[in-house]
Amino acid sequence: MTVFGTGYLGATHAACMAELGHEVLGVDVDHAKIAALQEGKVPFYEPGLPEILQRNLENGRLRFTTDYAEAAEFATVHFVGVGTPQRKGSYAADTTYVEAVVRDLAGLVSGEHLVIGKSTVPVGTAHRLQTLADGVVGERRGGIAEKREDNITVVWNPEFLREGHAVADTLRPDRIVLGVDDGSEDNAAVETVREIYASALEAETPLLVMDLPTAELVKVSANAFLATKISFINAVSEVCEAAGGDVTALADAIGLDERIGRKFLGAGLGFGGGCLPKDIRAFMARAGELGADQALTFLREVDAINMRRREKLVEIAKEALGGNVIGRNITVLGAAFKPNSDDVRDSPALNVAGSLNLAGAAVTVFDPEAMDNASKLFPTLTYAGTVEEALEGTELVIVATEWKQFQELDPEAARGPVAAPVVIDGRNCLDRGDWERAGWRYLALGRG
Ligand SMILES: NC(=O)c1ccc[n+]([C@@H]2O[C@H](COP(=O)([O-])OP(=O)(O)OC[C@H]3O[C@@H](n4cnc5c(N)ncnc54)[C@H](O)[C@@H]3O)[C@@H](O)[C@H]2O)c1
Repeated sequence: MTVFGTGYLGATHAACMAELGHEVLGVDVDHAKIAALQEGKVPFYEPGLPEILQRNLENGRLRFTTDYAEAAEFATVHFVGVGTPQRKGSYAADTTYVEAVVRDLAGLVSGEHLVIGKSTVPVGTAHRLQTLADGVVGERRGGIAEKREDNITVVWNPEFLREGHAVADTLRPDRIVLGVDDGSEDNAAVETVREIYASALEAETPLLVMDLPTAELVKVSANAFLATKISFINAVSEVCEAAGGDVTALADAIGLDERIGRKFLGAGLGFGGGCLPKDIRAFMARAGELGADQALTFLREVDAINMRRREKLVEIAKEALGGNVIGRNITVLGAAFKPNSDDVRDSPALNVAGSLNLAGAAVTVFDPEAMDNASKLFPTLTYAGTVEEALEGTELVIVATEWKQFQELDPEAARGPVAAPVVIDGRNCLDRGDWERAGWRYLALGRG
């Protein structure tokens, strides 16, 4: 099989498919990324992935290329995991990369090929890609009877992996969703997909076969639900701030109701990354195109609540420093959008660091894994080599990503290098009592 796109999703998928015993060719247009992968270097941080990459390069089951012709020749099953970012100046997703893969592949294949989409796409994309592939293959046939067996079938198998847990999520997913043209279990593609995911199916992972639009909608609905849950607790957080309540105690209490559950009720700086923000916007845009725009207007509020948390944290920082941050030393612990990742796409932590820097503060950032990516995006911030270095002489510490390393900081020891012991717990992940007992002024979102 081939895997088109070797970013967070594609590189993980390619390596894990090889780990399961398949012969895999990863394909990307980014020559530097392919060169790194060929050398066994994962171009991003994902726990466990380097070992799997290395092992499967060595045993020969995994290779990488930028050559589409080689890919068309190598396999008849092609996964598509290229990016679908937010289109500039719009809420909609940019599907040009998935279109490019299908168009270019359709120009090269001979025989029966199966394209298994994994990228997150607006509903209707798979159907459009099928039409695109049929058009290109049909044009190539040019009426020549003997080439009539050339054919591409497009199915959709949305990906639910979580960065930071991507290897386990790919090897042992909690469900496999497959959208096929007729929505039927008897569709020929179902058998192929069963073979590919045989080990997961043996471990009783449910395989849910459905029609293409439903499969596409499953993924964006799941992300919209998660985003809504986070923004719900962050909206309650705003009320707690106004009323003097404690959102963490509240979340513990409502989370014990099994209909609600405690997961994704972590009040704080909110969500970011390369998926949730762009996926809820693309979902709204697509619903609008389909005439169902009213259905998802609440997602605008979900988005707005989420962005307001970043502004609120900046406000708390300014207040903590007496209303003006010009020339003040601030340390931001965390740059990645979440722990166990180096992904800084739409990162709340970097957004806060950047805003305080623009307001005149001297901001020093430390993150265990995301320093390179962060410094490319925000070169004007200062980047420290260690937490201790980041704390040196600071007047305010902001914990903006809940890395374990920050949660385990010893508040006594952390007091040593700082100029003033003031901490804002942007993720409600520190033990307030411990920090206060160690002499810190402790501030947080949603806690009175
Ligand atoms: N990252 C995640 O946690 C995650 C989880 C589930 C779904 N997704 C979805 O997966 C898709 C990819 O996300 P990502 O985070 O891996 O993005 P990414 O930006 O890390 O990777 C995308 C890759 O596609 C490559 N690419 C672009 N055009 C190409 C082409 N024509 N041929 C071959 N390669 C091409 C890029 O060079 C890049 O390496 C998106 O639709 C995303 O929403 C991501």
